[in-house]
Amino acid sequence: MFLGLDLGTSGLRALLVTADGQVAGQAEAAYPVAHPHAGWSEQDPADWVTALGQVVAELAAAHPAQMAAVRGLATSGHMHGAVMLGADGRVLRPAILWNDTRSHAEAAALDVQPAFREVSGNIVFPGFTAPKLAWVARHEPEIFGQVATVMLPKDYLNYWLTGRLTSDMSDAAGTSWLDVGARAWSADLLSASGMRADQVPELLEGTDVVGPVRADRAQALGLPEGCAVVAGGADNAVAACGIGALGEGQGFVSLGTSGVLLAGRDGFAPRAESAVHTFCHAIPGAWYQMGVVLAATDSLNWLGRITGETPAALAGGLGDDLQAPGPVRFLPYLSGERTPHNDSVLRGAFLNLDIGSDRTAMAKAVMEGVSFSLKDCLDALGQTGARLDRVIGIGGGIQSAYWCKLLATVLGIPVDLPAAGEFGAALGAARLAICGVTGAAPEEVMTPPDIARSVDPETGLVAAFAEAHQRYKRSYPAVLDLQ
Ligand code: XUL
Repeated sequence: MFLGLDLGTSGLRALLVTADGQVAGQAEAAYPVAHPHAGWSEQDPADWVTALGQVVAELAAAHPAQMAAVRGLATSGHMHGAVMLGADGRVLRPAILWNDTRSHAEAAALDVQPAFREVSGNIVFPGFTAPKLAWVARHEPEIFGQVATVMLPKDYLNYWLTGRLTSDMSDAAGTSWLDVGARAWSADLLSASGMRADQVPELLEGTDVVGPVRADRAQALGLPEGCAVVAGGADNAVAACGIGALGEGQGFVSLGTSGVLLAGRDGFAPRAESAVHTFCHAIPGAWYQMGVVLAATDSLNWLGRITGETPAALAGGLGDDLQAPGPVRFLPYLSGERTPHNDSVLRGAFLNLDIGSDRTAMAKAVMEGVSFSLKDCLDALGQTGARLDRVIGIGGGIQSAYWCKLLATVLGIPVDLPAAGEFGAALGAARLAICGVTGAAPEEVMTPPDIARSVDPETGLVAAFAEAHQRYKRSYPAVLDLQ
């Protein structure tokens, strides 16, 4: 048996799976995010450890025999977070998370140094790790002076379990300190952001074994002695392992709180200026690229809060048949935007509101705006050479049949919808654990899910949506000019 853990922003999910990848049980535990100041987003790593104890205890109570047979575990983690450890391994301050924007000035200052984009292959986004440490150096020098090691969130759990300070390539790629093509820390980038090379942990591939769970931790948690901890990876990379998106032509579109359009890549082909993220995959010798839309279903949630309707009711108001693009336009930049604009200050807009515009028209505009922003991501990925002829659709938004048709038509490629079951980051993590412990080849273990149905673009509306996408693109500079 194997455990896949998904250390998410709001909770930890654990999946118990058999050696051939079948799900035997699952458990979840929530923890809070603190926002002590506007733009801040922090978590106490001790809460992750508590959550780990809870999910393991719950699974052990429900599946005692299988839990006693667990040979290995791996964790998928939310990316970019900074966990600062002192020389004694203690946490020095709350972890600063991926969605914390306090270090936007530090990020901009690092990003203008050409080496960052050239070596890391990415823009230094405000959420990435390097600018967070630059912020701590400036605002909390007494803490910065004590930092012996900077860990990423899931790597802190691996350290707590094994006593070994490591990271994996996929998570390290989101720090702005990694030479992403060479899969090695860059001494130049570390020193350019005021860090020493000994302040980052040893690098592993996501399928490498970190070590056995420490005897005292195994006993405290109720895990079998000798249970192996496999390095695991960053949430998007591990979700790609869960869905079998490993190499060229394989990818997914996620209509979640944020939206992601991800393509597996066999090589390193960055194009930082497109605001596409180019990161190491969680399996050796592979990379992936993705465009990130910060407010995807979050945009519909926002409209739902304002109108007093559930997002499902708003989407349901449109029926199931795709309608031609409407006159009302929505720019979904409620939290700024990553791809293609890289602008954390930018904000959203409705355009062309009419005296007759009702909430259904506004919901339609919101779903169209989010779909257009994902089309921007597909186009940006295309500029890097990534080619996707079809994508697997995941995330809460795909519950809406209307949104699926809209998305397929706007993207111009079929969206394959998986049959019910597990295919997310927790399964991807369990698959990394299986590969790490058994030595099985990733492409044999990380297969795509069964597809329940494929949603094709509505040919009669493709041209109208392509035109509407062009109008949407022209709206951005116009609105930017007014902000
Ligand atoms: C990716 C990113 C998010 C976080 C949280 O760059 O910031 O996907 O990993 O899920």
